[in-house]
Amino acid sequence: METMNKNLFHGELVRLTLEDADRVAAAFSRWGQDMEYARLLDSGPVRLFSSSIMRQWIEKEYLGDNPGMVNFFIRTLADDRLIGFIGLGGIHWNHGDAFVGIGIGEREYWGKGYGTDAMRVLLRFAFEELNLHRVSLTVFEYNPRAIRSYEKAGFAVEGRVREFVHRGGRRWDMICMGILRREWEQMQRVSAVTQQEAA
Ligand SMILES: CC(C)(COP(=O)(O)OP(=O)(O)OC[C@H]1O[C@@H](n2cnc3c(N)ncnc32)[C@H](O)[C@@H]1OP(=O)(O)O)[C@@H](O)C(=O)NCCC(=O)NCCS
Repeated sequence: METMNKNLFHGELVRLTLEDADRVAAAFSRWGQDMEYARLLDSGPVRLFSSSIMRQWIEKEYLGDNPGMVNFFIRTLADDRLIGFIGLGGIHWNHGDAFVGIGIGEREYWGKGYGTDAMRVLLRFAFEELNLHRVSLTVFEYNPRAIRSYEKAGFAVEGRVREFVHRGGRRWDMICMGILRREWEQMQRVSAVTQQEAA
């Protein structure tokens, strides 16, 4: 019952939100000019998008009526700042599987726990509310911060697509990670016991 009273979209540091397309378009367009961010996020060639092109894509695809996607944005609880996005895509309702994507565009918030907190909130939504069986993701070998964050949220490495990306004059693996519902439930039990012991 306690979990039913909790605000499903609030974590310890962040909350997941929906935002107006204009606000998101401006943020995505600005974040996309950070080349390091763009290369951590995606394997496609880095491109620049104006706010108006971005807005069309956001309205049609990202926030459109698509049963295979559930997208959110990330705001800090402390100062209500919009710092990134997180969402589920490629949802296979028949198999109970979905891919998660996350990006904190405001880079001064990297490495301070915000991404892991947002991921924990999203996993709770995926397992408790959408009743999924597993959540999957891929991450590039050159992104150890993301890999560590995913491990903290409970993901395990499931495999590697060898030499998938060509960046910076060399090839890098793409790492496949996933978390099963029973693993997530086990983490909740362990954290409830730890909290009881600390009280
Ligand atoms: C990936 C991302 C969401 C993670 O969120 P975050 O808030 O930065 O992550 P956290 O602070 O919660 O955790 C990062 C962990 O990695 C560790 N870390 C940071 N840099 C590291 C590095 N170079 N090598 C190894 N570990 C590193 C941190 O110490 C921390 O672990 P700890 O808590 O055990 O000390 C965020 O960094 C981000 O959006 N980055 C840019 C875009 C991106 O990479 N998206 C993901 C694409 S798959």
